[in-house]
Amino acid sequence: MTTQARDQQRENTQWLEPYAHLLCPGDLVLDLGCGTGADSIELAALGCRVVALDFDPARVAQIPAGASTFRLAADLAGRLPFIDGAFDTVMASLSLHYFTSEQTTRAIQDIHRILVPDGYLLLRVNAIGDTNFGYGQGEEVEPSVFRHPDGHLKRFFNEPMIRRFLSPCFTLLSTRPRTILQRGIEKQTIECLARRR
Ligand SMILES: C[S@@+](CC[C@H](N)C(=O)[O-])C[C@H]1O[C@@H](n2cnc3c(N)ncnc32)[C@H](O)[C@@H]1O
Repeated sequence: MTTQARDQQRENTQWLEPYAHLLCPGDLVLDLGCGTGADSIELAALGCRVVALDFDPARVAQIPAGASTFRLAADLAGRLPFIDGAFDTVMASLSLHYFTSEQTTRAIQDIHRILVPDGYLLLRVNAIGDTNFGYGQGEEVEPSVFRHPDGHLKRFFNEPMIRRFLSPCFTLLSTRPRTILQRGIEKQTIECLARRR
């Protein structure tokens, strides 16, 4: 890995530090929409058993060996291929924004299903106003959801929207607006910690 790639990875995974105390060694953690697994590597370094899932097999294949207990290609918009109550924590970093309201609601219900009672859901989402990464670009098909010319949807969240999606089955513990750097460009995000009810 190049120095630049390593710096980029560090830039992207530091966000987990404030939540590390919630994770116990041995916890089973699902990294939903894991990409090439930067967060999975961090979670594994904390001693967690990690399942890294992404629908792009090419990205899953790039996760370094040993970064996760298990990796698989699957679509988080469909029923997740896990038994009820399988995970202590589910994490989705910048991966829950490609869906309509109906699909997002269904995905959150399925995350609820696969979490243990009191399990944590840790989200990082695009924030409304994130103009450097697509906010306001393309047709607005739902409030703050834009269809890009290539056809894919991109949702931008604020706290009321997060609350609306999570409140039926999660207790929202915190939301944290955060400006991060992606490829050196400022990106507006919201981190969100919730607990399964
Ligand atoms: C912006 S990247 C985020 C990657 C990583 N979680 C991070 O924070 O760096 C979004 C990831 O979500 C994945 N993704 C998009 N739609 C998905 C779906 N329906 N099911 C599973 N993964 C999906 C993409 O392949 C991509 O790897």
